[in-house]
Amino acid sequence: MSDIILGIESSCDDTSAAVIKDGWLLSNVIASQEVHKSFGGVVPELASRAHELNIVPVVSEALTRAGVKAEDLTAIAFTRGPGLLGSLLVGTSFAKAMALSLNIPLVMVNHLQGHVLANFVKQYDKENRQPSFPFLCLLVSGGNSQIVRVNSPLEFEILGQTIDDAVGEAFDKCSKMMGLGYPGGPIIDRLASQGNSDRFKFAKPHIPGLDYSFSGVKTSLLYFVRDEMAKDPDFMEKNKEDICASFQKCLIDILMDKLVKAAKQTGIKEVCIGGGVSANSGLRRRVEEEGKKRGWTTYLPEFKFTTDNAAMIAIAGLFHYRAGERCPLDIAPVSRIADF
Ligand code: KG4
Repeated sequence: MSDIILGIESSCDDTSAAVIKDGWLLSNVIASQEVHKSFGGVVPELASRAHELNIVPVVSEALTRAGVKAEDLTAIAFTRGPGLLGSLLVGTSFAKAMALSLNIPLVMVNHLQGHVLANFVKQYDKENRQPSFPFLCLLVSGGNSQIVRVNSPLEFEILGQTIDDAVGEAFDKCSKMMGLGYPGGPIIDRLASQGNSDRFKFAKPHIPGLDYSFSGVKTSLLYFVRDEMAKDPDFMEKNKEDICASFQKCLIDILMDKLVKAAKQTGIKEVCIGGGVSANSGLRRRVEEEGKKRGWTTYLPEFKFTTDNAAMIAIAGLFHYRAGERCPLDIAPVSRIADF
């Protein structure tokens, strides 16, 4: 018998629902929230209200596009955390209510594991390359920067992670500081493609092991821009492409140095990336270049799987479901990974 899983994702500012049948994607609907743009960042209170408005239409649309009736579902998988608590509460409560009314199992998913397991979503008419175990995943988003060793679909080992800001935060905060807009990653990525990445240098951190730090490089950019603007108030406007290209290169160098180190230490040559920042064109290019140089087999997610989506929650849910995991109805969401 087939396993048909409905995935629900509401950890930040995207309301998403997806249906997966035995690992094959039938639908993946995402409602993004425009309301945050004018605030230069996600406003948690507004995010939960928007989830509350979106959740019913998004789930119904996912079922309709999949050609699946609610009664056909085998189980419901939802993001338990990490994320914004108010946002997570909407998806969690909806998933619980739906599982209860259909009398089907509920499965909880760690959002970060979802990003890693997005590599295993199978799509019709696609190549569907999948990493073999064990593999390394560079997980880079607005909330996390980690190198994860993935031993099996349910066995993850964090080899290194940021001790302060996430790399996505560095993109977002610096874009805001430069007056470029939000979210900063895609804007800096676009401007960087028109600039000279060797023009300016920013201080790189010296952190032992496989951990990361991004707060120093952010401060380095801040002081650099402040000093240059004191000499020439138009400095930023005249040089924004080169600043973005140089800053982006610095962030990618930091990410890649530790990824290369992790691959050497573990001897693992299967390497993938995931999370919002994995959409970055410079990072994708560098992962492929390093991969060719070092004999890695690399896996880059499709753009639609780099940002938050429920397809990754549904596929992760399928693995958990098949491993016999079930979630009680008195489960509550958690905002931090340490609480998982
Ligand atoms: O995974 P995600 O959608 O949300 C969470 O943080 O969970 O990641 C969002 C982050 C933001 O910081 C955004 O600026 C960044 O991903 N991002 C990018 C790009 N697209 C999105 N960063 C760099 N380059 C991009 N093209």
